[in-house]
Amino acid sequence: MAKVFVTQHIGDAAVQRLRDAGHVVIYRDETVPMTPDELQTAVRSVDGLVCLLTDRVDTAVLDAAPQLKMVANVAVGYDNIDLGAATRRGILVSNTPDVLTETTADHAFALLLAIARRIPEADTFMRAGKYERFELFPPLLGLDVYGKTLGIVGMGRIGAAVAWRGALGFGMKILYTANSAKTAVEQELGAQKVSLPELLRQSDFVSINTPLTPETRHLFTLETLRQMKPTACLVNTARGPIVKEDDLLTALREGVIWGAALDVFEAEPKMTAGLAEYRERLVVAPHLGSATGETRRKMAETAVANLIAGLAGQKPPNALNPQVWRETSR
Ligand code: GLV
Repeated sequence: MAKVFVTQHIGDAAVQRLRDAGHVVIYRDETVPMTPDELQTAVRSVDGLVCLLTDRVDTAVLDAAPQLKMVANVAVGYDNIDLGAATRRGILVSNTPDVLTETTADHAFALLLAIARRIPEADTFMRAGKYERFELFPPLLGLDVYGKTLGIVGMGRIGAAVAWRGALGFGMKILYTANSAKTAVEQELGAQKVSLPELLRQSDFVSINTPLTPETRHLFTLETLRQMKPTACLVNTARGPIVKEDDLLTALREGVIWGAALDVFEAEPKMTAGLAEYRERLVVAPHLGSATGETRRKMAETAVANLIAGLAGQKPPNALNPQVWRETSR
């Protein structure tokens, strides 16, 4: 029996599963994240932690939790957790890959289509009673998607799922960047691995699907955006700080690129000043990539299953630092 702290609302079923596994669960059933001080106090005597991407699990939190054995993040991205520090302290960390891949790729594609065909602008136009007549060249002319070139920055699971949609559903040519060649998408979709400048130069749509790391923070600045076609769109469903938002706003205002669709923001939940007011060729959503009821429930279940395994001395299926498990299970 271990003591588990759940930082925010994850649904009763997942919490019950933890209790059924025999754990004492302190469930903070709220949707507002704790302050760093509150989190440090809450983890003092716990063995396991279930957290969301809005909980920063840094060295201060890890140092405040001398009994902590495992952190289960209810997200695939884990830039909110200091993985190196956790590993050095012998604390297991897990995430929730796979269960959200297709849902997030659906959302990336929905945003791609929404920006290309100006759906939010069209909706606003219609509701404002501005549709007076059919015109061959209406004010809201969009962009073609079918047969265009889709550049995927970061060909991981989600990037590949976006590529499949583009290639098979929309006849798109797929370019990608990644640390290593991805044979499945190359063989099955004819995707080509290229350098980032080459991807930016050729792509009509650029989808960001890479994790946030020191290398990808501000990967998209004005200088990067200037390498894109003036007729191209940027879609970011990964992490906000990968794009320097000020620079993106400048790029949109100056017509450096045609449009952008953002699901994530540099200082979430805030948007850079001026971005919210900029309505033309910019689609924004409040970090909804994996947000279907089905998928969010699966994410909570996956996090809890990982924690139950880890606390029982088994290897968590989605351990990010399995070396900790190997060392402690010797
Ligand atoms: C969502 O952004 C996630 O990382 O799961």
